[in-house]
This record gives sequence, C-alpha cells and structure tokens, in this order.
Amino acid sequence: MQRILLDVDAGVDDALAIILALNVSELKVEAITAVSGNVHVNQCTCNLLMTLEAMDAREYPIIAKGEAQPLIKPLVTAAHVHGSDGLGNVTRLLTPDGSRRYPMPKPRMSAISAVDLIIDLAGRYPDELILVPLGPLTNIAKAMITNPAQMRKIKEIVLMGGVFETYGNVTITAEFNIFVDPHAAQHVLDFGVPITMAPLDVTHQVILTGARLNAELGERNDKLSQFLRDATKISMAYHQQHEGFYGTYIHDALPIGLLTRPDLFETVDAFVQVETAGDLTQGMTIADLRPERPRPKPNARVCVRVNAEAFLRYFFDCLADGDKHPTVDSPPKRQ
Ligand code: BDR
Ligand code: CA
Repeated sequence: MQRILLDVDAGVDDALAIILALNVSELKVEAITAVSGNVHVNQCTCNLLMTLEAMDAREYPIIAKGEAQPLIKPLVTAAHVHGSDGLGNVTRLLTPDGSRRYPMPKPRMSAISAVDLIIDLAGRYPDELILVPLGPLTNIAKAMITNPAQMRKIKEIVLMGGVFETYGNVTITAEFNIFVDPHAAQHVLDFGVPITMAPLDVTHQVILTGARLNAELGERNDKLSQFLRDATKISMAYHQQHEGFYGTYIHDALPIGLLTRPDLFETVDAFVQVETAGDLTQGMTIADLRPERPRPKPNARVCVRVNAEAFLRYFFDCLADGDKHPTVDSPPKRQ
C-alpha cells in the first residue's frame, strides 16, 4: 500500500485522476489539497468535493484549501479548456425540477491550510508519504520553504507537468502547470526529494475520445457515469475545435498509473531545469533526454513513453471493478 497526497487544481482531468486514485486498492489517499491553476483555488476546492460526491465516496480523505496565487507571477487560469467552473460547467446543469444536478458540496475542509497539512502529513508518515501534484507546484514549494526539514521526510513526488520534446500547451515551449508557477517548479526540482515527471510528451499520447467514453460506459446511468459524461463534454468540444478530435487528454491520471502500473511506462533519469525568466520561454522545462548523452546529477525521472491503450484499459477496468483491477504484477486484462 502506498500512502499518497493528491494536490489538485481540480479541472476535468484532475477529477479523473481523483476518481482513479480512489478506485485503486494499492493507494491510500490520505489527503487531497487544492491549489489555484485551472481555476481559482476556491472553485478547485469545490470541484474536488463535487467529484467525491459524484463518486459517492465512502471515506473522505482530508481536504484542505491551498494557495490562491503563484509564488511570484500573477495567476493564469485555463477556464477556456475546462469550462468557467473548471469542471466542464457541471455547476450549470439543472434537473427537470430546476435544482442543480450537482449541488453545492458540503464544506468538508480541514481547518488548516494545504501547506500546513502537507507539512503535518510529511512528519506523520516519514519516508512514506508520496506527493502527487497535478497542478501548479505552489503548495508544495511553499511547504518546502516553510519547513524544509519536515519536507525532506517526503518519500517521493510523482507529478504531472513539463514538456520536453514536443510543443507546449499554453505557449509554444511551456506546459500549463509549470508555466503557471515556474518559480515553484524550480524550487521543487532543486529541493532534493526524488521526483518522477509525467510531461505532455506522454500525456498527449493518451486520448480519451467521446466515442471511447460512450463505448466504455455503454448504457450505464449511475451517478458517476453521468458525471464522467457531463464533466468531459466541454473539454472534448474544445479539442474538437482546436485539435481536430472529439476527446480529451487525461493528463493527471498518468501519475496514478506511474505509481500502480509502472510496467506501462518508460522513464529516463535527467537533470531538469525550469526557465523562470524568459520572455518567450517562461515555464519551459529543459533537459537533455538523448540516450547517448551522459546525464550528470539527475534530479528527476522523466517519463518518455507510455503504453497508451493499456493505460486506458487499466483506467476503465479500475473504474468498473473498483479494487478488483489487475495488480502491478499481473498483465493488463486486455490490450
Ligand atoms: C495540466 O494542465 C491542466 O490544465 C491540467 O489539469 C493538467 O494538470 C496539463 O498541462
Ligand atoms: Ca491539473
């Protein structure tokens, strides 16, 4: 069993990652913290609670609200991709009686901030807690700045972010999570806790098309299936308009796969740096990934390949079967 803390900016793919993580028996999700990114942290906190309610989650991890602003830069959001509420505008959907299909969730937040909670859990589970940041790294960097000694007890960080050998998704050179808070990202990379990165290079290989979602869900009409259809619609329409396919990337689900199905991924050790200042390149992640080159002082494992179909199969098997999905040691059910 791996003890994890999810740090999310609760957009559409963050919601998919939360759902996957909570359906995987090898993971114990101790806490979910929110940070500004896709939308403001207040909305992110609401979105993650709405996701848990849509799942009818039996047990709630500890939930905490985090930083509203990046360390230095003003906040940039991605409401154009995820909908103005960050969750495919599910908050606007009504039932026939005029009430919200996804009501305001109960405010089950911890009294302490995300930064304090991260520090607290790092101390409570020394050399055991794995951080899984799925948004800008502001909360994580702040926790490292506030209490470096305690944060050195973190076992590992497995994050979604960066782009190396393809184009960025917010500028030509930058991936969104790193672009929003490049100073935080550089701080986290410099800190010295082992890091694994799932960059756009691999997350762009895993496309959940509308047709695939419909085929997998079939006639299922339970609350979670309905939520999956509703929450992904706007993002799918966005990609239809801008990238020519009706579907969505499920970026943030990949770090969950890296933890539980490492056999589906290939990684290389690298020395990763972040451009914090460039006018045209701010947020760019820079590393030499060429196999023939020596890589002195690596500070991260960078994921360079994924078996996309096997990962999608795994994702849906976990959702359908709960904790009856294949384990790390067994091959995926179907390929
Ligand atoms: C990342 O940016 C966000 O919009 C997504 O949730 C994901 O974490 C992809 O670049
Ligand atoms: Ca995210």
